[in-house]
Amino acid sequence: MNSFWNNLEKPIYALAPLAGITNSPFRMVCKEYGADVLYSEMTSADGLHFKSKKTLAMLKFNKKEKPVVIQLFGKDPEKFKTAAKIVEESGADGIDINFGCPARKVVAHGGGVNLMKNLDLCYDIIKATCDNTSLPVSIKIRTSIQDEDKKITALDFLKKISDLPVQVVMIHGRSYEQGFKKEIDYKIIKKARKYFKGIILANGGVVDSKSAKKTLRKTKADGLGLARGLFGKPWFFNELKTGFNPDWPEIKKIILKHANYSYNALGDHGIIEMRKHLLWYVKGLKNAKSLRKELVKVETINDIKKALKNT
Ligand SMILES: Cc1cc2nc3c(=O)[nH]c(=O)nc-3n(C[C@H](O)[C@H](O)[C@H](O)COP(=O)(O)O)c2cc1C
Repeated sequence: MNSFWNNLEKPIYALAPLAGITNSPFRMVCKEYGADVLYSEMTSADGLHFKSKKTLAMLKFNKKEKPVVIQLFGKDPEKFKTAAKIVEESGADGIDINFGCPARKVVAHGGGVNLMKNLDLCYDIIKATCDNTSLPVSIKIRTSIQDEDKKITALDFLKKISDLPVQVVMIHGRSYEQGFKKEIDYKIIKKARKYFKGIILANGGVVDSKSAKKTLRKTKADGLGLARGLFGKPWFFNELKTGFNPDWPEIKKIILKHANYSYNALGDHGIIEMRKHLLWYVKGLKNAKSLRKELVKVETINDIKKALKNT
C-alpha cells in the first residue's frame, strides 16, 4: 500500500500522542524542529460520530504540520466507521488507534489499554477503521496487560491482527501495570518484528541521545515515538538528528514562536495552554522560582515577554 509512512527516512522520529499537549500549535513547533510525523492528542471516536463540536475542533491542523496522524480512542467499532470517514475528510494523513491509554476515565469505559483484554474487539475496531478509510492505519499498544490469571501481550495482539492492513505499530515498552514508570521492555519490542511486517516504532523513556540510541539498538525498531522527553524541548528531534543544542536566547525565541502559534490557533485560551509548557521550558534555569510564579499567571504574549525579559 502506498502511504507517506513508506517515504519517511529511517530512523523515523515521531511525536507520540499526548492528551492535553500535542495540539496543533505544539505540533507546529515540533515539525519545525525535526519531527517526521505528528500524532494528535487522543480524539474520541464517539465524539466524532455524534459530531461533537469540541471533538471536531480537535481535527484542525495547519498544513505545515503534515504528515499529521489523528489518534482515535473508543470501544465501539460502529463509531470508528464514521470517525474514520470524518478524519479522512479533514485532510489528515493517517489514523491511529489507541490501545494503550491507562487514564482512569478511558479505562473505566472499557477503552484504551483495557481493550487489550478483548482481542476480538480490538480486531473488530481495527477492521471497521481500515474498511472505512483509504488512509494508512496505525495502532498504539503496550507490552502487556494482566487479565486475572492471564497475561495478554503485545505479541498476542499482533498475532491476532496479522491479516489486517495495519501499517505501523507504536509499542510503549511498559505494561499497563507499570503505568509510566520503571524499565522499558526492549526485548518484546524486538520480538514484535516476527509478528508484524509493517513499521515498528519503539516508545518509552527516550529523554536524550543516549536513551534514543539504546532504544534503537536494543529493539531494532524502525523509529521512535517521543513523548515526555519533549516537555520543554520540542527541538529534541533535531537534537537527535543534527545535535542541535540551542542556548537560552535561542530557546526564548522558540518559546515566543510557540506562544504565537498557540495564540493564533486558540486565542486567549492558547496563552493559558502555554503555562505548563513555560514551566517546562524554564526547568533547568537557575533561580527560576520567581520566574515560575510569574509564568503560571501569564495571560498575554506581552506577559510572557515581560517575564522572560531579564532572563
Ligand atoms: C500527559 C500524557 C498524555 C498522554 N496522552 C496519550 C494519548 O492521548 N494517547 C496515547 O496513546 N498515549 C498517551 N500518552 C502516552 C505517551 O504517548 C507515551 O506512550 C508515554 O508517555 C511513554 O513515553 P515516554 O516515557 O517517552 O513519555 C500520554 C502520556 C502522558 C504523560
